[in-house]
Amino acid sequence: MTAREYTIRILPHGRTLRAPENRSVLEAALEAGLNLPHSCKSGHCASCRARLLSGEIHYPRGRTAGLTEQEAREGYVLLCQAQPRSDLVVEARVVASIEDVEIKTLPCRIAKLRRLAPDVMQVFLRLPAVEALRFEPGQYLDVLLDDGRRRSFSIASPPHDSELLELHVRHVPGGGFTEALFHRVHEGALLKIEGPIGQFVYRESETPALMIAGGTGFAPLKSMLRHALERGSQRRIHLYWGAREAIDVYEEQLVLEWTRRYPQLRFTAVLSEARSLDEGFAHRRLGWVHETVLADHPSLDAFDIYAAGPPALIEAIRASFPAQGVRADRLHFDSFDYAPR
Ligand SMILES: Cc1cc2nc3c(=O)[nH]c(=O)nc-3n(C[C@H](O)[C@H](O)[C@H](O)COP(=O)(O)OP(=O)(O)OC[C@H]3O[C@@H](n4cnc5c(N)ncnc54)[C@H](O)[C@@H]3O)c2cc1C
Ligand code: FES
Repeated sequence: MTAREYTIRILPHGRTLRAPENRSVLEAALEAGLNLPHSCKSGHCASCRARLLSGEIHYPRGRTAGLTEQEAREGYVLLCQAQPRSDLVVEARVVASIEDVEIKTLPCRIAKLRRLAPDVMQVFLRLPAVEALRFEPGQYLDVLLDDGRRRSFSIASPPHDSELLELHVRHVPGGGFTEALFHRVHEGALLKIEGPIGQFVYRESETPALMIAGGTGFAPLKSMLRHALERGSQRRIHLYWGAREAIDVYEEQLVLEWTRRYPQLRFTAVLSEARSLDEGFAHRRLGWVHETVLADHPSLDAFDIYAAGPPALIEAIRASFPAQGVRADRLHFDSFDYAPR
């Protein structure tokens, strides 16, 4: 039986698109080339929250953690979860400049693979000579698998260094894509990617920034840092990188070299599972990265905050930072949720 289709009108863009009853409004919009705000696509991060002005939607998995009961009562919906059950009018957030960036599906070749840590692979992708991928520092791409599923990875290289796209991929034991990447895929292999995606992007400003990475959450922040530093920004930035052990702060030496070259950059590595700190590494601390940031900055209202990493870290930041004065419009985050089944 073919799925029923409905008409979705997206404000304030004024775009109209068709969406079948078995796809989320977000999927339909992305397929139609409309890059609506989103991040996790699994109902947790609330990046895709929008107001339903008219029509009926359905959540096949029920209401997810990204939407409170109160928000649902006020007419908010999560577009990554909501499927249409009638024609809809939806008011989405607008993120300046991003909706102009074209999402492309491109073949690319794995040019280089390098082990950064026991469970992290640095992957360099070469795009076809005639194709460029325009993106903003912080955005991610989807690797399209043969069976139609997709896996998201942040772009670690900055837009001005676009010859090879750099990714940092953590091995998920038994994971459909990363298991193959770590054990069967070789340099020269072909992949299909789609991007750029996401609204986690760097905005230049004179406001000091705190950047908070959990594990491979360093990837989008590396793109942002290289973008800012290599293009002459004098902004004061403090990078906090949380990981289990020192070996998991897999580009520690590179960041230390940056701090010597760019005095406006500070760096703290926060280790959650190390027992003690080695001498000669004054930038290392023990504990949880978000708690270290809170302890260092009793007042967060003077900072822009960029945070990326596992959902638990992002949830902890969203729950605890507002009490120390962070402004909602200054808190930018990317939650590395796993692909929905
Ligand atoms: C916007 C965005 C950006 C991301 N950027 C990055 C990035 O730069 N680098 C990076 O390494 N990851 C990143 N991720 C996470 C990454 O997409 C997933 O880890 C990846 O999809 C795993 O693919 P897989 O096919 O190997 O595993 P899957 O086949 O998807 O997973 C296999 C099983 O393991 C579970 N699982 C998946 N991941 C984990 C995990 N980490 N721990 C425990 N259980 C898990 C799944 O629920 C599933 O049951 C990002 C995610 C998002 C949403
Ligand atoms: S909750 Fe929809 S994209 Fe995260």
